[in-house]
Amino acid sequence: MKISFFILLLFLTIRLFAQHGSVFPQPVNVEQTAEKFVFNGQLKLENNRDSEKGYAYFHELFERDHGVHLVLSDQKEASIHLQLINTSVYTEGYQLSISGKGVDIQYSNYESFCNALQTLNQLIRDPNMLDGIRISDEPAFAYRGVHLDCSRHFFTIAEIESFIDQIAKLKFNRFHWHLTDDQGWRIEIKKYPKLTSIGAWRDSTLIGHFSKQPVEYEHQRYGGFYTQEEAKKLVEYARIRGIEIIPEIELPGHARAALAAYPQLSCTEKPLPVAGTWGVFDDVFCSQDKTRAFLKNVLDEIIEIFPSPVIHIGGDESPKINWNQCPKCKAVMEANHIHNTHELQSFFITDIEKYLNSKGRTIIGWDEILEGGLAPNAQVMSWQGMEGGIAAARLKHQVVMTPTSYCYFDYYQSGHPSEPLAIGGYLPLEKVYQFDPTKGIDNEYRRYILGGQANIWTEYLPTIRLVEYQAFPRLLALAEVLWNQGKVSYNFFVESLSAYYLPQLKKDGINFSTSFLDPVLQCKASENGIVYDLLKPISKASFYQNNEAMNSIAIKRTEVSQIQSFEIHSRIGNQELRTCSYHFTSHLALGKPVVFDTKPHEKYNHNGNLGLTDGIAGEKPWKGNEWLGFNEDTIRFTLDLETVTKFNSIRIETLNDPGSWIYRPEHFQIQISSNNRKFKTIAKANLDGDLIGVKKKMKARFVRVTIYNKELIPPGQTGAGFTPWTFINEIILSK
Ligand code: ACM
Ligand code: ZN
Repeated sequence: MKISFFILLLFLTIRLFAQHGSVFPQPVNVEQTAEKFVFNGQLKLENNRDSEKGYAYFHELFERDHGVHLVLSDQKEASIHLQLINTSVYTEGYQLSISGKGVDIQYSNYESFCNALQTLNQLIRDPNMLDGIRISDEPAFAYRGVHLDCSRHFFTIAEIESFIDQIAKLKFNRFHWHLTDDQGWRIEIKKYPKLTSIGAWRDSTLIGHFSKQPVEYEHQRYGGFYTQEEAKKLVEYARIRGIEIIPEIELPGHARAALAAYPQLSCTEKPLPVAGTWGVFDDVFCSQDKTRAFLKNVLDEIIEIFPSPVIHIGGDESPKINWNQCPKCKAVMEANHIHNTHELQSFFITDIEKYLNSKGRTIIGWDEILEGGLAPNAQVMSWQGMEGGIAAARLKHQVVMTPTSYCYFDYYQSGHPSEPLAIGGYLPLEKVYQFDPTKGIDNEYRRYILGGQANIWTEYLPTIRLVEYQAFPRLLALAEVLWNQGKVSYNFFVESLSAYYLPQLKKDGINFSTSFLDPVLQCKASENGIVYDLLKPISKASFYQNNEAMNSIAIKRTEVSQIQSFEIHSRIGNQELRTCSYHFTSHLALGKPVVFDTKPHEKYNHNGNLGLTDGIAGEKPWKGNEWLGFNEDTIRFTLDLETVTKFNSIRIETLNDPGSWIYRPEHFQIQISSNNRKFKTIAKANLDGDLIGVKKKMKARFVRVTIYNKELIPPGQTGAGFTPWTFINEIILSK
């Protein structure tokens, strides 16, 4: 008895973790059988209320993806049988089994019907036949979202529809539509026509990265907006695909477009144009009653367009500088016994919340809405990290986790030189796959974590093609973790992604990144420099230089700094994928160890004690992974050349990217020593541009560098009040 029970248990375990490569996200329980269902190009879907509602969409989907003809038919004739089961256990889950007789689906509501049909569509590998399978599936998280910023750049309804088509395939169920911001108001409000006649248009747009100096603008009128009719149609379009649209109307900050249209709503009442550059602006909605009444009127129209139970009210990055000086704001504070401007923001948002609650809606806001006290019924979208979300969950508020470190798809996904310009940061595919929205939450508060969301901010994404590139395939990794909490290994995920889903994206004409298939470079010191092993991202990958198979790159140490370049062609089987160009800076300290008294932050700490001598001199604009980042005001490290050496120049580059809270250090000190005990100071200076360094005849084994940044970012600058980040690249020593 005992043995057979054990075998049964083993069998159940195998069933539980059996995998099916072609379905994304991976279903929770899959059992493959030997049966086959032959259907000869036509599947007859049992006609009921739900299949009728989704029919036009799924008909087109099956036809487009596989040339399979989906028809509605009565129960007797059907090859896809539908059974609506009333269960409160899973609301979006479903069961699907394929036998020799056909397909049986059990589902509990329209969304779960959509999920089952998406799975069925992805199970089709042959337009005439399906393999036997039994799937029982349900999502780990109720909220599986994708956000798109349509203010910084405008995307047409057709483009958004195509994007929604893609996220529907991955069983996302929320589309967070960022409709208003400093750079453009994008939704028609009938009571306030200037919001779109003025607020939807800007006269200029920043060219290149925000941190680039001198700044340059394209002086061309740019903009657009969605009519209420168009937005309503999009709501219906998404609903048919199982997706709810959550609109965002930003308040009290990110309001420059609205204030350009109605300057009387700001504290200063000064006319200002719609913003043509990025960042955070001091001009926000004044807190006076008149402004809140205006916003309530706007929200009256918004809730008529969007039936979502939740409305996003923004709440992020709202400077208090104008509120602190504004007599109208002071009067509001006095009348309502408010002690400071954080409490004033809380008052503002609570007032808006009360209004929306009275209309049967709940508000969600970015985690800054915790400052000064959270509105009583608000949900929190935690973006600055997980901390805000954790705090909100402890207060028993519902939370959607969107921390920058896992969910900001405007970040670079690779340090490859061909990557299109992005805001900064570094979020490769594998990191997204490691996302856990409940990490750090005590068990008793887990139920407040509704799920997670990818945020796609579009300052640097002027076209939908670039949005797609940033979104895919990272959205697949996010879909996995939100559906099955990454139960399957990352390896299995990337192998099946390459085999099944990339060809589908290609067929759909989607612009996706293959950077996750680049060689993984593993660095080690060698006798005469550095060797990088080229690790395979998937089993079928291989690498070539001039048609010769490569497994590693060796970079030789040189006395005079010089660049050594390599072109590596990556292939999957016989298919050429892309050419990766690598440029390594060689010099006298290449491959020599560094002892860090101040450790680089774990997010920006590549190649350990070789991080500053690995030959990788970070480029500008930075792509996140090649620079070392520190979040301390004083940084100290010591290079060990391992033997007393003569050199004439030391040079370290630093970054200045205030938008990412990275500030150029203030000053530095360089010391040298032959024994690591007695050090001689050879340079003590302020920075000359972005450079730390010295040129003179030197002879030493040890080089100690101390770098000083401001203790805190000063008021008025991005990240004010926080420790600035310091980024450095390589310590280059040469003769
Ligand atoms: C945000 O990224 N400011 C929510
Ligand atoms: Zn004011």
